[in-house]
Amino acid sequence: MNSSLSPRLWHALSEHYQKISPLHMRDLFHSDPQRFEKFSICWGDFLFDYSKNRITEETLSLLLQAVTEVDLPGYIEKMFSGERINFTENRPVLHVALRNRSDRPIYVDGKDVMADVKRVLEKMKNFAEAVRSKRWKGYSGKPIKDIVNIGIGGSDLGPRMVTHALKPYGHKELNVHFVSNVDGTDIAEVLKAIELDSTLFIISSKTFTTKETLTNAHTVRKRLIDYFGDPKAIEKHVVAISTNEKAVKDFGISPENMFEFWDWVGGRYSLWSAIGLSIVLYIGMDQFEELLYGAYLVDEHFRNSPLEKNIPVIMGLLGFWYGNFFGAQTYGIFPYDQYLELFPVYLQQLDMESNGKRIRRNGTVVTYTTGPILWGNPCTNGQHSFFQLLHQGTHLIPSDFIAPIQTHNPIGNHHLILLSNFFAQTEALMKGKTEQEAKEEMQKAKMNPETIEKLLPHRTFPGNRPSNSFLIQKITPRTLGSLIAFYEHKIFVEGLLWDINSFDQWGVELGKQLATRVEEELTAGSLLYEHDASTKGLIEFYLKQSK
Ligand code: F6P
Repeated sequence: MNSSLSPRLWHALSEHYQKISPLHMRDLFHSDPQRFEKFSICWGDFLFDYSKNRITEETLSLLLQAVTEVDLPGYIEKMFSGERINFTENRPVLHVALRNRSDRPIYVDGKDVMADVKRVLEKMKNFAEAVRSKRWKGYSGKPIKDIVNIGIGGSDLGPRMVTHALKPYGHKELNVHFVSNVDGTDIAEVLKAIELDSTLFIISSKTFTTKETLTNAHTVRKRLIDYFGDPKAIEKHVVAISTNEKAVKDFGISPENMFEFWDWVGGRYSLWSAIGLSIVLYIGMDQFEELLYGAYLVDEHFRNSPLEKNIPVIMGLLGFWYGNFFGAQTYGIFPYDQYLELFPVYLQQLDMESNGKRIRRNGTVVTYTTGPILWGNPCTNGQHSFFQLLHQGTHLIPSDFIAPIQTHNPIGNHHLILLSNFFAQTEALMKGKTEQEAKEEMQKAKMNPETIEKLLPHRTFPGNRPSNSFLIQKITPRTLGSLIAFYEHKIFVEGLLWDINSFDQWGVELGKQLATRVEEELTAGSLLYEHDASTKGLIEFYLKQSK
């Protein structure tokens, strides 16, 4: 192994894996009545239970040596103090500054960035208040009823997920919509659902060069000018969020209608910045500050808690343990809360764009597995589609189960049934069902011995499938902020263990470059560049059939 971990520790972990892998969690629970207390952490409104994992105290102590070897505490301080840890883009990584609710200054190149952060928050607050109180009027004098965020990736997924998750806190007379895809259907369907007189468009793009976003933005600009017959209407209906002031101006949006952020905020870590404007408009600044505060509390927990009581550290170590020793390739995220429906999709970008890397910090290729394929869906829906594979398939899929104790919609016994499923699924995954249990069950049901014998292998469950459980008092702006920050820091821990840069995303560039060339060809109606036979054949077929 060529990681930054010492060969001694890799070896010790590999040896230890040989010892742990044949053990069943049933037996581990049986032999240690304190297992739940040992492997769970109560923190604020959260209970994080990681006792249903294939670990012992020795596993944890070996894994904790790993974060010490890679100097996690040192790297946490590097991040929080504005060092340029995103070295391939020569940038600090300071989403933590956006939610720094203390008086602590955070410096970039000798300048405290907190003054700028506060200034933009104030501007967002004033603007949101004007819109929410109907003081801000559209070109024809109507107040705003619909907000449309146009952005993609990090300029879409964070605000989209948060506004969905915090619907109970949303302004009752405002609707938020999100347009991300360059597929004209996306913008067309939203334009059908709104009235331009009472709609505010937010063009969200860190770079303000992203093709999808600018294409949608130009469509909207044209639609507004055609409708109102006056380019001045843009001022009343379009605002921009970006780090690129010049491009925003060139697009025709004045600086008063621009909300800035900075290149030290990564796209997928940007919902805490002005990119969160749609969130502020929808839930108000007080609640947005609660979201920031929730994340800030986790930042403090991450910086100051001992490693063995540190939730993101434990989460990261478990991801490393399964990915690098058990060979787990995917990771499941199962929220038992309909409002968290978009959480898995949001986490896909956060995790896979961050840790989908194969080059170490010293430029060599890794010889081990890095970021997992992350996937998931809200439950109980997932239980009736892919859970069969989790229980009896051949893949080991470590998973996170997330549920609120209190629901925003206490209707009958719905929540009790939901939570019964939450508890039962992690138990079933862990325990499984032995042949003996399956046999007894069928005997009780008075099945004949022949049928029992035939069905027995099909009706047994191996169990020993790991999961973490997050029980959260209630999904509020504060707890949601904390939940997101737990995952952000988990990803940081894993990236460090894998010795990769979690903060760049060069991998998305190649597709973008090639799309630009193909666009030229489709516009010209003929091939202009060399392609492989398949791509050439596809383009030629399209050109012929679309005439
Ligand atoms: O997919 C690449 C990416 O750069 C993401 O990292 C980013 O969130 C997204 O595109 C959108 O970028 P921008 O905010 O600059 O439009």
